[in-house]
Parts: sequence; C-alpha cells; structure tokens
Amino acid sequence: QYNYTKPSVPCIDVHTHMYLPRYMDLLRSRSSVPKIIVNAKNGEDRLVILPNEDENKQTSVGRPVGGQYFDIHRKLAFMDTHNIETSVISLANPWLDFLGVENEDMCIQYARLLNEDFETLSTKHPNRVYGLGVLPTQLSTVSRTVDACCAEIDYIGSHLPHVRGIILVTIIITMIIIIIIIIIIIGTHGIGKGLDDKNMLALYQSLERNDLLLFIHPHYGAGNEFYTGYGHALYLALGFTFETTIAISRLILSGLLDSCPNLKLLLAHAGGTLPYLIGRLNSCALHDHELDHLQLQNDNADNLLIQKYLKRFYFDGITYNELTLKCLQDMVGDRILFGTDHPFFPPYYLSHTNKEIDTTPWPSTTTNQLAVKKAFEGNETEKKILRNNAIHCLGLDKKIYGDKIAN
Ligand code: URA
Ligand code: ZN
Repeated sequence: QYNYTKPSVPCIDVHTHMYLPRYMDLLRSRSSVPKIIVNAKNGEDRLVILPNEDENKQTSVGRPVGGQYFDIHRKLAFMDTHNIETSVISLANPWLDFLGVENEDMCIQYARLLNEDFETLSTKHPNRVYGLGVLPTQLSTVSRTVDACCAEIDYIGSHLPHVRGIILVTIIITMIIIIIIIIIIIGTHGIGKGLDDKNMLALYQSLERNDLLLFIHPHYGAGNEFYTGYGHALYLALGFTFETTIAISRLILSGLLDSCPNLKLLLAHAGGTLPYLIGRLNSCALHDHELDHLQLQNDNADNLLIQKYLKRFYFDGITYNELTLKCLQDMVGDRILFGTDHPFFPPYYLSHTNKEIDTTPWPSTTTNQLAVKKAFEGNETEKKILRNNAIHCLGLDKKIYGDKIAN
C-alpha cells in the first residue's frame, strides 16, 4: 500500500480502547442509545453511541462494529503491526454513564465485572496489556455516586494490580444532560456537576491515595449544534476537543486541584485546545474579580496557570501533526505519552466486519508515530514520548521495561 517503517522504539499506547465482550453483550441487549443495531441491508452490526445519533439529527447513524472493537487478538495484531509492546486499554465511550441513570445496582455491578475483566485480560497477556478502570459514575444522587466510585477506586487500588488508572468522561457536558433528567425526576434540586464539582474531591483524593491515574476523555461533544452535515468529522475534531477544554478549564479555575496535589491526570487528544488557549484563559481569569481567589495577580502572572496547572497534566500525543506536537512539548516538557485511539479511525478501505485479522498499518496511528519522528528524530524526546514517559507515569516495572529499544 504505502511505505511504513515501524518506529525502532517499542511503543507504549496509553490511549486505546476496547468494548469488552461483556459490554458488547450489554449494548446488543439494548434498544436505546448506546446500542448495537443490525443494518437490514447487509446484516452488519452498527454501533450507535453518540448523543442523538439514532435520530440522525447531529450525525449519521452509527458506525460498523466488528472484531477490532472487542477481540483482544485483533488488538494484539494491531500492536504487532505498529511496534506497540504494551497497550493500556480503556473501555470506550460512553462507559457506564447511561447505566447509572437507568439501573444503579446494575451499574455498580458492571463496573466491578468490567474492571475484573481487564485484570483477567492483563494477566493473560502479561506486559502486553494493562487496563484502565471504569467507575459507576452517574447514580441517582451525588452521595451514592461518590461512595460507589470511591469504593471501586479502593477495590481497584487494593485488588487489581494491572489496572493502572481510571477513565472518566469530561463530565461538564454530561451534566447538562443529567440536569435535564434530574429536573424531570426530582424537580429543581439543580445539582451542578462537572469535574469542578466540589463533590469530585473525594474521588480525586481517593485516586491520589491509590496512586491511580485519571484519564479524562470526551464523549458528549460541545458546540454540537454547528456540526450537522459533515458526518462525524466536526463532532470528533472539534466537539470532542472543546468538551475536554471546557471541562479542564473549569477544573483549573475551581482551584480543586490544589487540594489534591498528587492527583495524576491524563488528558485525551493532547488536551484538546487547552495548551493553545491557556495563555488566554490566564489573562481572562486575571482580569476577572470573581477569580481573585486564584491570586493570578501575584508574581509570574503571565503564565501562572501554565506553571501551576498545565505542567502537572499528562497529555496523549494524538495531534496528527508534528508542529502541534512540538508546541505541546515546548509547553509541558516530558509529559506526552503515545496514544492511538484504536480501534476508532480504521483505514477507510478496511471492513470492520471481516473475520480475518488485519495486519496493514493504520494511517491514524502511523501519522502520530511519524509526527513524533519528524519532530524529535534522534533525540531523547522521541524515545520518551513513544515509551519512557509512560513507564514513569504509570510506574511500570523498570526491570521489565528498562530503556529497551527494539532492533
Ligand atoms: N470516536 C469515539 O466515539 N470515541 C473515541 O474515542 C474516538 C472516536
Ligand atoms: Zn479515545
């Protein structure tokens, strides 16, 4: 097809998803979004997960879903093709958000089962697979949610050594939807939520205690009303990244992060647009008296938000562009970790429903590997982004991972 040279560094992929078989069964059993439908014309399964997707108002209905989404052997073949030694796999969106609203007990139970599934998968494929835990995030009340989430974090921390972090949606947009639902169910309680919700602090501190990384990943989109007519492209390119940007900006301005100084956060898609906008966020906050508590007017006012917050996050390197990647590296230093977003963005010619294991390189992955190479070839940063930053951040066993470079 086209020339692809695998990176010489065995990569560690921290942004890669699976719909675990148990979760696929759950989606197949459902008649409302998220769900799997069968295309009447060709019998192919289609995954329908995005907000309003089945009404076809915002986006086209679903996408084909085949073995790449749930079969670990496909994941391993993909890894081999791209010289990925280890994948830290997370459940793909929308995780268990919908289930908490519908059936609390089932949501709590599924979180436990799915986290154990990840542990089992990791044990079966040592050093090739780690898991990211999932939480029962949206139960009927804040206190139930916080209790259930903290219990699950403690369980992961003390029982599931191969689960290296927790995936959390950028809750801000979710909550707009939830508030609508709450108004219907419980009237005008008006519980404001989001990553900046004070009730989140218990979760953050629990993660901190268990030394678990928190991966912030979008699902709901922001600005969705502007994307109609362009397939999923604007929704995924802009809606996803703006959603992350809004959620993290709110978290920063809330000051909550000061109460959990050791919480490690990994931001999806290179932090959305946050690195590009943080200077402006700093300046706008500096000129707003409602934010006096942040004390941005003190020394170093030009970049306090960068120094204090941006540089404490980790970022995946999913930019598809070497200049963007260079800019991020300049801003945050050695905090960029390689990611693929597999199995999303397959080559357009690839049938998702074929039964054979595919071994062709995926441009959505090779573009990001090439960006690292073009930006940093021959210097330490290349090795750090593809591998070593993840070893440090996730606390992978140095005896096993060392500084090994493939031939
Ligand atoms: N599309 C999704 O729904 N999720 C991702 O993570 C990437 C693309
Ligand atoms: Zn993703």
